[in-house]
Amino acid sequence: MIATERRGRRRRGLAVLRILLAACALGGPAAAAETRAPPDAAAIARGQEKFQPCIACHGATGNSEIAGTPSLAGQPPLFITTQLFLMREGLRPVPAMEPFAGPLSDADMQDIAAFLAAQRPAPQPAPRNAALFAQGQRLARRHNCGACHLPGYHGQLQIPRLAGQREDYLLHAMVEYQADARPAADTSMSAALFGLSRQDLAALAHYLSQRR
Ligand code: HEC
Ligand code: HEC
Repeated sequence: MIATERRGRRRRGLAVLRILLAACALGGPAAAAETRAPPDAAAIARGQEKFQPCIACHGATGNSEIAGTPSLAGQPPLFITTQLFLMREGLRPVPAMEPFAGPLSDADMQDIAAFLAAQRPAPQPAPRNAALFAQGQRLARRHNCGACHLPGYHGQLQIPRLAGQREDYLLHAMVEYQADARPAADTSMSAALFGLSRQDLAALAHYLSQRR
């Protein structure tokens, strides 16, 4: 009974979110404002304050040094607020994040997103494997990853930045999309990765993580 109610709530929550995202993807004035608005210094300062409980895992400037934990520096604000919303509502369950995403208000999410968007992504330290990098580059072009993530893989709107993300996290995320194991994820990613082997995904992760 309770489980059914919970599922119903989740479905309604998801439906609302999809409508909001569709409105943005149509490129309405809100979308234009999100991509072009000048950084709001007051929001960034509030966001830095509110990000303090997160730094043990995600790093002081959103550059993670922990395996399996994504970097957040330079992510589009709408990607951050969307994912935090999904986590707060239990639609994308991440056990490590539960105590932290749960108490956030919508305003907190926006301030944190403003702070993170203003942070500079640190280059990944891993040495580049030339063959794997070239294979990943070919695959990314052939599969048009830049059509949504933008040609420099900096992300836009609800679509994440991939350039400079931790290699292990990129691979983990793609494996989850292929297995349909990231709840509430946008279905565009299962389609984008259709037919790619595990080795292809490893090459893509290496290439994208080594991009600046
Ligand atoms: C105890 C460690 C921990 C803390 C503290 C933590 N996170 Fe996370 N966070 C994670 C992990 C691990 C993931 C990746 C989950 C997965 O594998 O899907 C994650 C994922 C995320 C994501 C999704 C990013 C992406 O690229 O998919 C966002 C956004 C995020 N965290 C924001 C925050 C914010 C904001 C806070 C503080 C309010 C916070 N996190 C606190 C561990 C943590
Ligand atoms: C049709 C648009 C589209 C295309 C094409 C696309 N993506 Fe995505 N991608 C998205 C969206 C939207 C998300 C966020 C989905 C979610 O809610 O989890 C995403 C998320 C991701 C993530 C998760 C990153 C994170 O921080 O959580 C990875 C990795 C990724 N995409 C890699 C790729 C690769 C590699 C390709 C090309 C093979 C690709 N994408 C093609 C739209 C797209």
